[in-house]
Amino acid sequence: MRERKGIILAGGFGSRLHPLTKVTSKQLLPIFNKPMIYYPLSNLIMSGIREILIISTPKHLEHYKNLLGNGKNFGIQIKYKIQEYPNGIAEGLILAEKFLKGKNLCLILGDNIFFGKGIENLFTSASKSPDQFIFVKEVRNPNKYGVLKTKRNKLIKIIEKPKKFVSKYAVTGIYFFNNTVINYAKKLKPSHRNELEITDLNNLLIKKDELKIMKLNKFQNWHDAGSHEDYLNTCINIFKYETKYKTLVGSIEYECYKQQILSRKQIVNNSYKNNYYFDSLLSKLNENL
Ligand code: G1P
Repeated sequence: MRERKGIILAGGFGSRLHPLTKVTSKQLLPIFNKPMIYYPLSNLIMSGIREILIISTPKHLEHYKNLLGNGKNFGIQIKYKIQEYPNGIAEGLILAEKFLKGKNLCLILGDNIFFGKGIENLFTSASKSPDQFIFVKEVRNPNKYGVLKTKRNKLIKIIEKPKKFVSKYAVTGIYFFNNTVINYAKKLKPSHRNELEITDLNNLLIKKDELKIMKLNKFQNWHDAGSHEDYLNTCINIFKYETKYKTLVGSIEYECYKQQILSRKQIVNNSYKNNYYFDSLLSKLNENL
């Protein structure tokens, strides 16, 4: 089995998306033609990761199990873990300690969606590298995210949801870390919103000069689907991209096919037919016949 393991955070109350999230988990909401969690899961698979832990709430974890099972249908391994209360992204790392068994990791937020030219290469290289990486993207509304603060071209720190303008570079929700971060995460103190902040952990790594920052370019799309407007934009952009380029974004089956862990026959045998998703999948698989 491969070295690096994956973690998807699919917890939280999803309160910013109420009432859509009143009876279901945010990361199960549809993004155009697939559940939201398909997208981060596909990103992990394209990075070469085959063992994945999904962390969710006591109320919703069963739904993820029903949707994805133990991963066998996709040729990967999926395990599950409850986060009792949304105590922050960095708590996810502590919860994953047993699952990781000392291995390095890629943590991805279940509501973050990455696609576009070069994403696969970027994530695969980060995954193979012994270094630790985060990815940033120039955005119009940086104050909603963790933001890079630089001085004379040198990174000083990340500021979480700054009130004043700091820079245009938002920190995206994918983190390639070494196993050593677990011990750092255990030392974090809860923030003013009572969470173990991923930004505090990143700042610790920056201080120790253990973090590399990569910029996503304009062809490498990133969406955080956490609010109604962002959610709608994400759906629209995925729809436009898939139809324009006649491709599939965030399809677990197609990703596994490209990675040669599923054959066309296995996918066809295991799929529900007579739907748009299957038809698009089949036409991609048939391209290579
Ligand atoms: C979290 C992180 C933030 C990051 C963002 C990316 O924010 O705290 O640093 O920029 O994810 O989606 P949240 O969505 O939990 O507010």
